[in-house]
Amino acid sequence: MLDSRALPKAELHLHIEGTLEPEMLFTLAERNGVKPKYPTIEALRKAYDFTDLQSFLDVYYEGMRVLRTTEDFRDLTIAYFERVSTQGVRHAELFFDPQAHLDRGLGFETFLDGIWEGAREAERRFGITSHLIMCFLRDLSAQSAMATLDAALPYRERIVGVGLDSAEVGNPPTKFATVFDRARAEGFLTVAHAGEEGPPEFIWEALDVLHVARVDHGVRCIEDQQLVDRLRRQRVPLTVCPLSNVRLRVVPDLAHHPLKRMLDLGLVATINSDDPAYFGGYVGDNFFQTAAALKLSDEELVTVARNSFEASFIDDVSKRRYLKELESATDAARA
Ligand code: ADE
Ligand code: ZN
Repeated sequence: MLDSRALPKAELHLHIEGTLEPEMLFTLAERNGVKPKYPTIEALRKAYDFTDLQSFLDVYYEGMRVLRTTEDFRDLTIAYFERVSTQGVRHAELFFDPQAHLDRGLGFETFLDGIWEGAREAERRFGITSHLIMCFLRDLSAQSAMATLDAALPYRERIVGVGLDSAEVGNPPTKFATVFDRARAEGFLTVAHAGEEGPPEFIWEALDVLHVARVDHGVRCIEDQQLVDRLRRQRVPLTVCPLSNVRLRVVPDLAHHPLKRMLDLGLVATINSDDPAYFGGYVGDNFFQTAAALKLSDEELVTVARNSFEASFIDDVSKRRYLKELESATDAARA
């Protein structure tokens, strides 16, 4: 049987700020003289009993107050790569939330240098390649997103794409049409969270208005047969995050997660961790637990891993190399 935790894979939906483990949160709080809202690790973990996306976001934005220096972001990034180096990750595309840091008075270079240096060091130490995608916070204004895009332009070469995250309901993709037009004109690839808590219409908008190359989450597409047909025909990848969906009550439990149905419908679904420090598992854990709950076959797991490389923004030569490695790993498991 295939070890899905160790299967070669790419992670395409990962918020680097969502990898802040409680232990590191307290270490950084001390290092930076920041007083955490929750006085102990136990009290903090108790706050991880989320009822919806907003209840998570409140804890997530609160937690990241301890991230103050380039060194903090570098340490955070290296710790993520170290963890997933034992879970088969060969390539990762990391989201980061500039506005959540700029609004606290940090300079763009502070967090970008830290994440970038961490990623370079991880590539040297663990051989994992990566790209960075900056997300706009959709509950802030379009003007704020445009100002963030301007602030990012000096760092253009280090950022492969732009995305859209934070509170979905009430903040449709169309709100950011002009910002995304400009981002594409500047050469950024585009992705967007859509159809996590928001309706299938937001997935249509992400495709038709923001021209996204991938949809993040997208699980609510299954409520709309025409949308499913479109996603399948155009082979639009969906970066699904099963443990996140359970913790944020998008689905009641893993056994009721639509991932298997999505695969049966011919959708290009991938498995990812979203905010692993908050949702109880990294990407290999998401593979393993989802496979067990939905009784995914080895064939289906290999398809999901293959989808992850095919849907990634890596160059074609690297893509072929990773796909070959996946093939060798599955051949070895079958032998
Ligand atoms: N930011 C971090 N995680 C998120 C999620 N699951 N949905 C929307 N915004 C997020
Ligand atoms: Zn996300």
